[in-house]
Amino acid sequence: MKYTTVTGNLQQLRTPCLITGLKTAKRIARALGDQKHFNRSSKDFDDAPGKSLCVHLDGAIARMLVLGGMDNPSAAVFTKTANLAAQEAIKLPIGQAVIALSDTRVKGKNSQWKASTLMQACSHAAYQFRHHKSKPKPLHQLTRIKMHATDADSKAVRVAVKMGNALDAGLQLAKDLGNEPPNICNPNYLLAQARKLGRAGNVKVSQLDEKKMTELGMGAFMAVSQGSDEPGRMIIIQYSGGKKGDAPVALVGKGITFDTGGISLKPPPGMDEMKFDMCGAASVLGATKAVIEAALPINLLTIVAAAENMPSGRATRPGDIVQTCSGKTVEILNTDAEGRLVLCDALTHALTFKPKAIVDVATLTGACIVALGSHASGLYANNDELANELLAAGENANDRSWRMPLWDDYQTSLNSNFADMANIGGREAGSVTAACFLSRFVEDVSWAHLDIAGSAFHGGARKGASGRPVPMLFDYLQRQA
Ligand code: BES
Ligand code: MN
Ligand code: ZN
Repeated sequence: MKYTTVTGNLQQLRTPCLITGLKTAKRIARALGDQKHFNRSSKDFDDAPGKSLCVHLDGAIARMLVLGGMDNPSAAVFTKTANLAAQEAIKLPIGQAVIALSDTRVKGKNSQWKASTLMQACSHAAYQFRHHKSKPKPLHQLTRIKMHATDADSKAVRVAVKMGNALDAGLQLAKDLGNEPPNICNPNYLLAQARKLGRAGNVKVSQLDEKKMTELGMGAFMAVSQGSDEPGRMIIIQYSGGKKGDAPVALVGKGITFDTGGISLKPPPGMDEMKFDMCGAASVLGATKAVIEAALPINLLTIVAAAENMPSGRATRPGDIVQTCSGKTVEILNTDAEGRLVLCDALTHALTFKPKAIVDVATLTGACIVALGSHASGLYANNDELANELLAAGENANDRSWRMPLWDDYQTSLNSNFADMANIGGREAGSVTAACFLSRFVEDVSWAHLDIAGSAFHGGARKGASGRPVPMLFDYLQRQA
């Protein structure tokens, strides 16, 4: 989706579709001399949240998509209505639409938030992943949205539009990577996609191959990767938009391009969804793409731990003990708890860049889905300020997380008789104990972990990547600028 700003009198617009609330629609109809027709067409319209009505006109505005409940809606109602408007708009045979909701006041929210919310809704509704269909006809034609601004809010809307285009590009990348099948999207494919980001001038992309990782002592990463014929990759992207020498913010993504469980093999039902086990990587790449597009004045370090978790004659056995890059040893009791193994070495590597904060993102545990479902990502942090910044970013960007505990009480479940720690806790609090494992590798830095097992993709009829938490990460990074 391409977003632009349009200003000036609404009644002088030329558009196949104007999307607005009832009050504004009435005013326009009156100004255009279409009052009678409009009143007749909207006679039975219930001006309530969740309702919408399409009224055809004869002039330069071909139709109006009228949204119900746009008189002082709450933020939640406005967000729901934005999604409804986007879903209705893409059903229409139009290539372009104008959204005009400057008149709508939302308590506690400004014009930039309203515009951002509308654009994110359009980006989600318009997304399609069609290129593996033998006849890849697009499902809709809508490709351009003009955000109408008044003189009073045009500055805010222009900023929002710039960020809306950047977020759209980031969401698209994250979803495409997530949806791509695992026979295509393997660690080398992720590296190739990262290299594309490196085409921008102030972006440097590098990688560690398996030989290099072995030299660096990344025994935990290698324990996961060694069972696969696809070589693992540690991908490193350095974006320098900020002051030279300023410590970067680091994003670290779990990039298991397929998770069979390894020798601790997963059961067959739903195993195809483990192609989404690289959605952490996809989201940090998506957020990085958005940052580059928006040219944010920050320094950003992005690390993707890309590997495939397969059973084979070379695969790790339950009971194997490996040494991590940090020097700490791990007894691998379950080869299906592989995300934390690739991440611990990626986190240790991130530390060598002296970041001011590290945020890792991972489809880490089924237990997180049990705890929070798909509505919130699980947030863990060893620093309250960082946690609060991420919570606020998620709240603002309609991409929420919920903070979970990292108390020492949980750490003992990782005890091992034979190594410094085991890679699994017990049956209880699986998402927490996974986070506890990671916390042992980032003791001296501000660190947060997002468990996105529930939020990163949909199952069932809507099966597909959600693009989350790109909106949260991008919002957080905008605040760092
Ligand atoms: N990738 C899975 C977690 C997952 C499950 C993500 C379902 C999305 C949907 C992860 O690698 C895994 O297998 N975790 C195990 C950990 C357990 C062995 C301690 C799990 O959650 O069962
Ligand atoms: Mn697993
Ligand atoms: Zn996994």
